[in-house]
Amino acid sequence: QIVYLNGSFLPMAESQISTQDRGFLFGDGVYEVIPVYQRNIFRFEEHLQRLKNSLQATSIVNPFSDDEWLEILENLVAKHPWNDQYLYLQVTRGVQMQRDHLPADCLTPTVYAYTNPLKPVAQNIIENGIKVVTLEDIRWLRCDIKAITLLPNVMMKLAAKAQGADDAILVSREGVVSEGTASNTFIVKDGTLITPPNSHSILPGITRMVIESIAEQQNMPIVEKQISLEELNSADEIWLSSSTKEALPVTQLDGKMVGDGKPGKVWLQMHKFFQEHKQ
Ligand code: PDD
Repeated sequence: QIVYLNGSFLPMAESQISTQDRGFLFGDGVYEVIPVYQRNIFRFEEHLQRLKNSLQATSIVNPFSDDEWLEILENLVAKHPWNDQYLYLQVTRGVQMQRDHLPADCLTPTVYAYTNPLKPVAQNIIENGIKVVTLEDIRWLRCDIKAITLLPNVMMKLAAKAQGADDAILVSREGVVSEGTASNTFIVKDGTLITPPNSHSILPGITRMVIESIAEQQNMPIVEKQISLEELNSADEIWLSSSTKEALPVTQLDGKMVGDGKPGKVWLQMHKFFQEHKQ
């Protein structure tokens, strides 16, 4: 596997960064995950815009022009045999020999990117869906930034696993649904698709955006509004969306069946439209 690191393409086993990298010491960096379908980078502009937003919000220098980013990512895709892939890229603030919360001026960002084979969603999940538990959202107040600092997400994923679930849906202390540990949330109620509006509490997911535009094209009723824990509990369908999973049907919530315990019919429609949309 060939990776990109600070200007070079090299085998993953030979790629090394400094122990003084601020990404390593402080989690001081941002990232993106971008799907590639049939060797085409999916929604490149939208992912790049979100990366630029994350860099700007954290005052990390954007090291490249849009064309340079595209060239690096296209190069990575071309160097690997898989038709469907997902690109991971991360930019940290850079290496600083003296550990200090305050970043030194003029650091050079560390840029790392690599690609993986993207597997289709497993047949078992398409047929049976996934089990999810609700957990308190223990994250910070800038979840709109795609920060590499993922300790709360990891802890919540572990807590979900410990309860025998595949994932968690995060709920604020006020009882408002935010998102999954690495995905956005949708519910279906009486035929209407509902997803929380973008805010500092969630990541503005690109898959979420794609699902919204498909729903609009197909005249499927869709609204953006806050979802309460009660509404989540009484939803006809629940989905989680992300770049690596598309839209996943949730068929069990906190040990109780969602709908009839099978992936819902609105999800099935969206799944079909999504496959067409990817081509
Ligand atoms: N995560 N919310 C969170 C907290 C996420 O980490 C992600 C994606 C999403 C969905 O965003 P998108 O549709 O743009 O992938 C929402 C990626 C896949 C990850 O961390 O691996």
